Amino acid sequence: MTGRPLPRCADEELGFGTVITDHMLKIEWNVERGWNHPMILPSGPVGLHPFAHVFHYAVECYEGMKAYVDNNGSVRLFRPEMNMQRFRVSAKRMSLPDFDGEQLLKCIETLVDIDKDWIPKQRGYSMYLRPVIFSTTPWLGLTQCAEAMILVLCCPVGPYFKSGFVPIKLSVDSKYIRAWPGGTGNVKSGGNYGPTVISQAAATANGASQSLFVYDKHEYVTEAGTMNIFFLIRNEQGVKQLITPSLKDGTILPGVTRQSVIELSQQWNECETVEKMIPFAEIKAAFERGDVLEIFGTGTAAVIQPINGIVYEGKEYKPVVPFDDSMLQVRLTNFLIGVQYGDIDHPWSHVV
Ligand code: COI
Repeated sequence: MTGRPLPRCADEELGFGTVITDHMLKIEWNVERGWNHPMILPSGPVGLHPFAHVFHYAVECYEGMKAYVDNNGSVRLFRPEMNMQRFRVSAKRMSLPDFDGEQLLKCIETLVDIDKDWIPKQRGYSMYLRPVIFSTTPWLGLTQCAEAMILVLCCPVGPYFKSGFVPIKLSVDSKYIRAWPGGTGNVKSGGNYGPTVISQAAATANGASQSLFVYDKHEYVTEAGTMNIFFLIRNEQGVKQLITPSLKDGTILPGVTRQSVIELSQQWNECETVEKMIPFAEIKAAFERGDVLEIFGTGTAAVIQPINGIVYEGKEYKPVVPFDDSMLQVRLTNFLIGVQYGDIDHPWSHVV
């Protein structure tokens, strides 16, 4: 953040969110005046009152989106209206002020256009956009929000997992609960993510890179680290099903990639697509029958992340089919990447 131009690096050296682009969007809100004019400013520190509610009570939520450059040099976003919709739902849950999603998207498009030279062109690389809204209410009483701010930050990124599109292992965490009915698991609030860092360390100790979060005595499967999770299984009746935890109990983030995978799977119709509560015992039984065919995580940062093992109570369970290019998850990934980079003409890709 010191001096301009900001340092750039080769695509291959990019981590996740380590390099910030030149500009950011900032919009301030006040309960008396409403939203102020949006401002695009040089990226840099924002001065906040030390009592700001975000510091003390975690009153905030955020979004994750990506910008891509297609072969004609046009900039594209992937289903951005879904992010704007979810951002508003999250803000409401966190008692933050509402805003016009279409107007905010226009501001984001302007920002992305100004910093478009930062978007890496290589496949697997993109510019991650991080809208965040937080309460800057400057007193310690836990009251309704009186002041807030939206920032939108941009960073060129490579694959979220350093290993790239190579299967990772999960470890079931029955100790730390990520989300529960009536909580905030279904909104993108930082408070869902920060407390999971401790669990990541336990996963690493088990030789895994992410935790598989469960809750309740039934150990219902919720999410895989920072991702939604999918299992391709044969059920006890021998029917091939792509299953993912349902949104019904409010513990699951309604991921944009999750929804896109569900819609594609329904269209391709190679198997049944099922959203339901999944007790881990059901997955364990499918492993024991040799009926787990594929596992993968989905998310904006990760897109689709292959998973080839789950550690549960000290034992590792693996899908019966070794990872290869004909798998459903590989074909889903190729399709999504094709749409995101504009190689496949599709209404999900939004030209800026
Ligand atoms: C995303 O996938 O966009 C997320 O917000 C997860 C985050 C921990 C990088």
